[in-house]
Amino acid sequence: MTTFDLDTIRAQFPALALRHDDLPRTYLDNPAGTQVPTHVLDAMRTAMVEFNANMHGQFRTTLLATELEHEAHCAMADFYNAPSADEITFGPNMTTLTFQMTRVLGPLFQEGDEIITTHMEHDGNNTPWRRMAADRGLVVKTLPWSRDTYEFDLAELEALITPRTRFASLNYASNILGTINPIKQMVAMLKAAGAMTYVDAVQFAPHGAIDVQDLGCDFLVSSSYKFYGPHQGVLFGRREITEPLDAYKLRVVPNSIPDKFETGTQSLEGQAGVLGAIDYLRWLGSTMGAAHVAAATAAGMKQRTAEIHGAMNAMVEYEQTLSDRLITGLQSINGVIVHGVTDRTALDRRVPTVSISHPSMDPADAATFLDQYGVYVWNGHSYGLPVIEFLGLQDKGGVLRIGPTHYNTLAEIDRVVDLVGQYLAQR
Ligand SMILES: Cc1ncc(COP(=O)(O)O)c(C=O)c1O
Repeated sequence: MTTFDLDTIRAQFPALALRHDDLPRTYLDNPAGTQVPTHVLDAMRTAMVEFNANMHGQFRTTLLATELEHEAHCAMADFYNAPSADEITFGPNMTTLTFQMTRVLGPLFQEGDEIITTHMEHDGNNTPWRRMAADRGLVVKTLPWSRDTYEFDLAELEALITPRTRFASLNYASNILGTINPIKQMVAMLKAAGAMTYVDAVQFAPHGAIDVQDLGCDFLVSSSYKFYGPHQGVLFGRREITEPLDAYKLRVVPNSIPDKFETGTQSLEGQAGVLGAIDYLRWLGSTMGAAHVAAATAAGMKQRTAEIHGAMNAMVEYEQTLSDRLITGLQSINGVIVHGVTDRTALDRRVPTVSISHPSMDPADAATFLDQYGVYVWNGHSYGLPVIEFLGLQDKGGVLRIGPTHYNTLAEIDRVVDLVGQYLAQR
């Protein structure tokens, strides 16, 4: 069995060694954005020093920039296990890409057609589709989740699907609850009804291996700043759907995918950084996830995809120990409510993001208290408005969200639990 060597992992991330005055910094704000390894910093620096040119020209630096852009698309295709690199579109972030897709998909639908969204979405996979529905006269149905289990009941999804269901926006993992949803099953149900599926994998991507071919979804989107890269959004779109679409593009831009969706000059440094993030994952997979890599290779995956999957599966094993410790610690504090899956035998159905409330806790005040100790956590709704509204916590300051990832230590988990306890003891 390969060991998950935390010291070696942490040494890859310069930010983890920085101090908060005379204290260590404890980054538990990862669902809002992770720190970056040197692989990313080096790749971005190289691109900006050695070939900082616009793409598609005839001279050395532009040729190198164009090659990098192509390689970034290939790498993200491998990250998603997508069939081809031209099914990958880069953009500034998930939200911008999603609004862009509403504009090109909207004309496919007729007035009275139905779309489904859920109460588990980040607003980035909610409001864009509601705006599209309002513009086109579509009916929006919303799938609830259970307040007991923090999961969907698929019978309720079945009940929402009708012959007029044309589209669904689905959350892969919740940025508030941490729940991982059964996307493959949900996609299959919607597909059987002839509906298109758009999966928000922003919170799943840092904590699990993605395989769009296995999921069967039509679109899937994530943001590399959540999985150890720079600020870039990356969309997979199934060729059969995207090729015929009429993109809002400039006349000079080719009508082929993905060019027609990549409007304006793309971020060379951003795409370089995404390549760096993928190289980091490959390094992690090959050094600490060898058994998983071997399993993925044996299952027929390409080497790069197998290494990425190896990294993700090794992280998942470790992160479950963080989830366990964090949930156990928080539940031991009188009155703390963990809003998410807490069953220790079901930790594979959640990412390690843990949101809490307490009758006497003001989340903003608690986050400020923790900051005094160099512990960084988020408070409020974190744009997961549909979830916070469904919890009825929008007028109570939302939740306190503690979001570890694979580079956090068990000692950091103990520290945040201890500090939350100290904060509540003063109230
Ligand atoms: C689940 C989820 N979806 C979408 C987004 C929006 O992503 P972006 O900031 O890339 O627009 C976020 C950001 O936190 C998120 O957590």
